[in-house]
Amino acid sequence: MRILVTGGCGFIGSAFVHMALDRGAEVVNLDKLTYAGNPANVADVADHPAYTFVHADIADAAAVAGAVAGCDAVVNFAAESHVDRSILEPDGFIRTDVLGTATLLQAAREVGVGRFVQVSTDEVYGSIEAGAFRETDPLRPSSPYSASKAGGDLQVLAWHHTFGLDVVITRGSNTFGPRQYPEKLIPLFVTNALDGLELPVYGDGMQVRDWIYVDDHCSGIWAAMERGSAGEAYNVGGGNERPNIEITRRVLALTGRDESLVRHVVDRPGHDRRYALDTAKLRALGWAPAHDFDEALARTVAWYRERRDWWEPIRSGEYRAYYEAQYGGR
Ligand code: NAD
Ligand code: TYD
Repeated sequence: MRILVTGGCGFIGSAFVHMALDRGAEVVNLDKLTYAGNPANVADVADHPAYTFVHADIADAAAVAGAVAGCDAVVNFAAESHVDRSILEPDGFIRTDVLGTATLLQAAREVGVGRFVQVSTDEVYGSIEAGAFRETDPLRPSSPYSASKAGGDLQVLAWHHTFGLDVVITRGSNTFGPRQYPEKLIPLFVTNALDGLELPVYGDGMQVRDWIYVDDHCSGIWAAMERGSAGEAYNVGGGNERPNIEITRRVLALTGRDESLVRHVVDRPGHDRRYALDTAKLRALGWAPAHDFDEALARTVAWYRERRDWWEPIRSGEYRAYYEAQYGGR
């Protein structure tokens, strides 16, 4: 099986590239190498005989047509992925997450790809006070990021209904693990804590996310790719609902720091209060998460402690300007 993985130099995409090669697939990794794309994430497989890298933009029709030719499946991870950046600068989100997805769909249709997997997010449903979202619930995205991802989902479904393209959508919950760019909650707080810097908790810190370890997210995508029904969406959640302040306290404990580093800052505009997913549909395909939350978080913190060589160069580059724009004077 030959799979076009887009965004394979990012956090989840690089874990999926490793999983696919381990499972005997050929992988073509197409990535634009934005600030979040890091060749180091796949450096260990660069010379693997079943691996090819294409440096390109998913919104570039000619480049995408060449890469998709001969592939049995496309798994689209490529996206602008951070809510806070989408509030600062939404344009790139609409371009990549909507137009880029449509460009890939068109290429997949033209060459007759067997299956198109769209890696989406629980955020397309919006916030839920009680209970858990099912795949049949309406899309009510809140942020420019989630609205762009919802736009991508709707393009994918349109290509199925109109052109008969075989598609599945996965809607994953908040993911954590090694190689996550240190702008999202867990890697930001772990790296700040390791350096003795403040942890900026938005508002009261009682917002709830459902956390999933990156390898469980990837095995869920794999299950949907292999066994999902065409035209269907599948929720991929870890079943680990935690308020942000609890995550913050665990990170402090695992890094040997105390609560004096906690700083409550002005809340994110339009901040979703709670996400929760019903994962019965994916579990019916035989999938279940395999990683215990506390163990996986401890392993993740240990990885960041040992891999300063991975994150220190990131935090000294473009990141500084972003950090100042996002947190300066907040
Ligand atoms: P990431 O930001 O770490 O990586 C994104 C990757 O896509 C990078 O390698 C980047 O270079 C590449 N990319 C961006 N724009 C591109 C373009 N126009 N053309 C080609 N490549 C491009 O993201 P991630 O956290 O690994 O997320 C991967 C996917 O999973 C995204 O689609 C995201 O919406 C979804 N998702 C993420 C989470 C999470 O918690 N991180 C949860 C649910 C769903
Ligand atoms: P994040 O990792 O950005 O993921 P998402 O917004 O896609 O869920 O944020 C997770 C939660 O942590 C969210 O409720 C916002 C909160 N948060 C903070 O409190 N402080 C921070 O510095 C960041 C980045 C996030």
